[in-house]
Amino acid sequence: MAVKYLKSLELRGKRAFIRVDFNVPYDKSMSITDDTRITATLPTIRHCIDGGAKVILVSHLGRPDGKVVPKMSLAPVAERLSGLLGRTVLFVDKPIGAGAAEMLAGLKDGDVALLENIRFYPEEEKNDREFGKKLAELADVYINDAFATAHRGHASNEAITHFVKECAAGFLLENEIEYFRKAMLDPTRPTTAIIGGVKISSKIDALKNILGRVDNLIIGGGMAYTFLKAKGYDVGKSILEADHVPTAKAIIDLAIKNKVNLVLPVDIVVAPDLDSADKMSLARFDAMPSDLEGVDIGPESIGLYSDIIRKSKTVVWNGPLGAFENPAFAVGTNAIAKIVAESDCLSVIGGGDSVSAIHQSGYADKMSYISTGGGAFLELLEGKTLPAIAALDK
Ligand code: 3PG
Repeated sequence: MAVKYLKSLELRGKRAFIRVDFNVPYDKSMSITDDTRITATLPTIRHCIDGGAKVILVSHLGRPDGKVVPKMSLAPVAERLSGLLGRTVLFVDKPIGAGAAEMLAGLKDGDVALLENIRFYPEEEKNDREFGKKLAELADVYINDAFATAHRGHASNEAITHFVKECAAGFLLENEIEYFRKAMLDPTRPTTAIIGGVKISSKIDALKNILGRVDNLIIGGGMAYTFLKAKGYDVGKSILEADHVPTAKAIIDLAIKNKVNLVLPVDIVVAPDLDSADKMSLARFDAMPSDLEGVDIGPESIGLYSDIIRKSKTVVWNGPLGAFENPAFAVGTNAIAKIVAESDCLSVIGGGDSVSAIHQSGYADKMSYISTGGGAFLELLEGKTLPAIAALDK
């Protein structure tokens, strides 16, 4: 793809219209509980400020379904961003069109404004062309830095690009594109994918696509039990997607056909339920007790996975390897995070739960790259072209 990057844009005096993803979690009092998505866009915003642009930011928050939902206002985000940038951010609460244009007319070079939640407009999610054109009237150059929304083709990341001559990816999106390219499209081999998480059903296309690209596929988390069942073993009370046993079988067959080393846990931490860490024990994959469920990978599995990771030059990781929300069942995920962190491989981690698990492990800052995308990262793993990235390819 021929996507232009921010560095190549001349910004001075121009209105830089930046699509960001400020879809941040907040509590009942509307106070932001994690501002990672805001801080992740600061390099792009600061570059535009320093380059003398008038910065206009647009984002969604939540799923207000095209209606004004006051508790999904971006006003608290404007305040947090003002603090992080150390300058006032103009919050534009007037409607897109004359109202917003009037508020933005007073912007000087280096000023920053944030528009109200773009999903308050039904046209946004419909990727309405006329609405895209209206947004484009606020822009001299268009920058997309919202990777986490790149799997949506909406007016503020697709339609608008048809009406702005110069469009580019910001630094965050550039990093996402480049790290994914290095990890999956043009990797240094051997390459290992670690795929965990609860359900195989949400990752079928990703697993199939990955099997065409890697040397090793390590499976962990709840989905491992559907794979073990497909191999004919009883999995006790473990999470099992009975409907997807044939899917797991087909994936095992595809791995054999593609000569990919598909690795399942050989020992499993089992417990009566997710709250009974005091009653946990260890079972072999072929002798899981009928009244217990798998909650984590065991020490022998950790050793097996570690040997593969140590020999890998590239590791892509999506999904935790156990029920990590309970720290007692995060041992496997933490141990593998440590091995990945200490190895000299290129490591790219993506997907909501995996990112939380890696942060919880304490090794996040030792990874080569942690994606800001959940659904967007998964769609890349599935081999899909993301609409917002395709829209930049002019
Ligand atoms: C996300 O949080 O994954 C993105 O902001 C996209 O949000 P959506 O799933 O509501 O489109």
